[in-house]
Amino acid sequence: MYGILFQAHSGLRFIVFFALVIAMILAFIGWFGNKPYSKGNRILNLITLISTHLQIVLGLVLYFYSPYVKFSNMAATMKDSTLRYWTVEHIAMMIVAAVLITIGNAKSKRGLNDTAKHRSVAIFFGLALLIIIVAITQGGRPLLGVSH
Ligand code: HEM
Repeated sequence: MYGILFQAHSGLRFIVFFALVIAMILAFIGWFGNKPYSKGNRILNLITLISTHLQIVLGLVLYFYSPYVKFSNMAATMKDSTLRYWTVEHIAMMIVAAVLITIGNAKSKRGLNDTAKHRSVAIFFGLALLIIIVAITQGGRPLLGVSH
C-alpha cells in the first residue's frame, strides 16, 4: 500500500508542478500584456486546483503509511530533521501552498476585470510555487525526479 501511494503521490507532483508553472506564466503574460482571461486560462487554473487537491488527499493517506512520519515520540521526532520534515514541515508547507492556489483560483472568478483575474492567479500561484519548490528541496528529495 505504501509503495503504490508513494508512487502516485511522487508522480502526481509532476502534474501539479507543470500545471502550476504554466498557469502562473500565462497569468503573468495576461496581466502585463493586458490579455483577455480566456477559457484556456480558466481550464488550466482548474486543472492546477484539482491536481493540487488530489495531491493533498493522496498525501494525507500516505501520511499514515510513511515510515518517515512518527507521532509516538514527538520530542524525538522534532529533534530528527528527517522525521520532523515529513511529520510536520512537509504537510504544513504543502497545505499553505494548496490554500494559496485555492484562494488564487477563487479570486480569479471574482475579479472585476481580466487584468485583475490574471493578477490574482499570478500572485497566489506564484507564491504557492515558491513554497512548493522550497518544501520539496528542503525535504532532500529531487524537485523533478523520483527518489525511491
Ligand atoms: C501540493 C501538495 C504536495 C506536493 C507537491 C507534494 C510533493 C511531494 C514530493 C515531491 C514527495 C517526495 C516524493 C519522492 O521522494 O519521490 C512527497 C512525499 C510525501 N508527501 Fe507530499 N506533497 C504534497 C502534499 C502533501 C501533504 C498534504 C501530505 C500529508 C498530509 C504529504 C505527505 C507526504 C508523505 C508522507 C511523503 C512521503 C515521505 C516518504 O515516505 O518518503 N504531502 N510529497
